[in-house]
Amino acid sequence: MIKIAVLVSGSGSNLQALIDANLSGKIVGVISNKPEAYALERAKKSNIQTAIIEHKQYPNREAFDDVMHQQLLAWDVDLVVLAGFMRILSEGFVQKWQGKMVNIHPSLLPHYKGMHTHQRVLNTGDILHGCTVHYVTAELDAGQALTQGIMQVNLHDTVPTLAERIHRLEHVIYPQAIEWICNGTIQHHENGQVLYKGQQLEKPIQFCQF
Ligand code: GAR
Repeated sequence: MIKIAVLVSGSGSNLQALIDANLSGKIVGVISNKPEAYALERAKKSNIQTAIIEHKQYPNREAFDDVMHQQLLAWDVDLVVLAGFMRILSEGFVQKWQGKMVNIHPSLLPHYKGMHTHQRVLNTGDILHGCTVHYVTAELDAGQALTQGIMQVNLHDTVPTLAERIHRLEHVIYPQAIEWICNGTIQHHENGQVLYKGQQLEKPIQFCQF
């Protein structure tokens, strides 16, 4: 059984969706870089062990990442799931977990990497928005996309309404993508190739919600 660690910084609604999904993998631990993250409460309610590793307590990114790495090794983790984890990871850490670490990002990557995606979608006047599950590589929000949730932007949408609807979409596509990794439907090979049902994954599997 695949052992999963979830890395969080905030509310943890995606963590909750993963807990509720009864994955065929097991969430063995949750790491937060923020002691006040509500995600920690969610983990405790589900009897999942937690670790608080505060980035502020370390002199640099590498030192912080190394403590996280040691924790992941101690838990014997196979898959690292970033769920609202708001720290950029060092190249060394990312390399150690290459092909074993995924993230969810609130935009239709490769559009709107980085922060404030809902505001940027509204500023541009896009009619479509969404979220993307992707492998994590050293370049921010640039690893291969596995799944995408796509939705329409309505005339009266605001940042809060978009954030709310994107969250609901995330809670569908993230558990699905993680389950596909756990049950072998999605495979990442050492050479970087990603397979979906044994075939090379050319573009993300899309879920449309209109
Ligand atoms: C989610 O919308 C996720 O896509 C985003 O943070 C939110 C966390 O919500 N992640 C990023 O922006 C990463 N760059 P949650 O704590 O309720 O799961």
